[in-house]
Amino acid sequence: MININPIPDPIIKTDYKNVYAPSDDSYMLIDYLRGCFNQDFFDGIAIERIENVLDLGTGTGIIAIFFQIIKSHHPRFNPMIYASDIEEEAIKCARDNEKLNNFKDEIKYFCSNLFESFPKSLHHSFNIITFNPPYLPASEFIHQDQNKKVIDHSWNGGRKGYEIFSRFLDEVKDFINPKGCLIYYISSSRVNLKELNKIIKQNGFTNILLQKKHIFFEDIILNKLLLV
Ligand SMILES: C[S@@+](CC[C@H](N)C(=O)[O-])C[C@H]1O[C@@H](n2cnc3c(N)ncnc32)[C@H](O)[C@@H]1O
Repeated sequence: MININPIPDPIIKTDYKNVYAPSDDSYMLIDYLRGCFNQDFFDGIAIERIENVLDLGTGTGIIAIFFQIIKSHHPRFNPMIYASDIEEEAIKCARDNEKLNNFKDEIKYFCSNLFESFPKSLHHSFNIITFNPPYLPASEFIHQDQNKKVIDHSWNGGRKGYEIFSRFLDEVKDFINPKGCLIYYISSSRVNLKELNKIIKQNGFTNILLQKKHIFFEDIILNKLLLV
């Protein structure tokens, strides 16, 4: 019997000043994902059917490396793990952290603005996608692109906070495996969730709220998307 629960969090170093240091949102995702695994299934999908996993906006690589750790403990969970980020520095950081966790070039990386630089060969291929996106509304001071600093990519989701995520909803459809795909993402009470839900529906998805946690000035919310 495989017991996934004692599987540790990845060891993460954040030496790069422009890379998002894992926070409550990152660990909320990991803790939930850990609970989704058992001997035969991941959240209702048969383990053997999971061929490709994507962690988009990987930052330090924490979520991608977590899947790699699960893979090393679970003999029948054997997908290819992909990780991507818009920032080159994040990709470097994730590669360093992959090594730190004793994996050698097992994760495949793309430096890409959402799915822009993904090869066509990955169309309709992912069974699990995680995205802890930049989800906060930009302040008056920095919503102008010319004022945007590199680290702002970590949190600045656009003027309303969900512009980047809306683009994700549009682009992700080409990459969903028609045999089954679960998408997990984080949102925040700081954005207009009614408007966001409308956009989610317009893109053909159903949103399932999984967990909510109050932190300082907001609720961070873990959600799952299903294509209807
Ligand atoms: C909140 S951080 C999450 C980092 C990491 N996944 C975690 O949970 O700790 C958001 C990440 O998304 C990346 N990002 C922002 N805009 C992006 C885009 N358009 N395409 C790909 N990645 C993006 C940022 O560079 C940052 O690493």
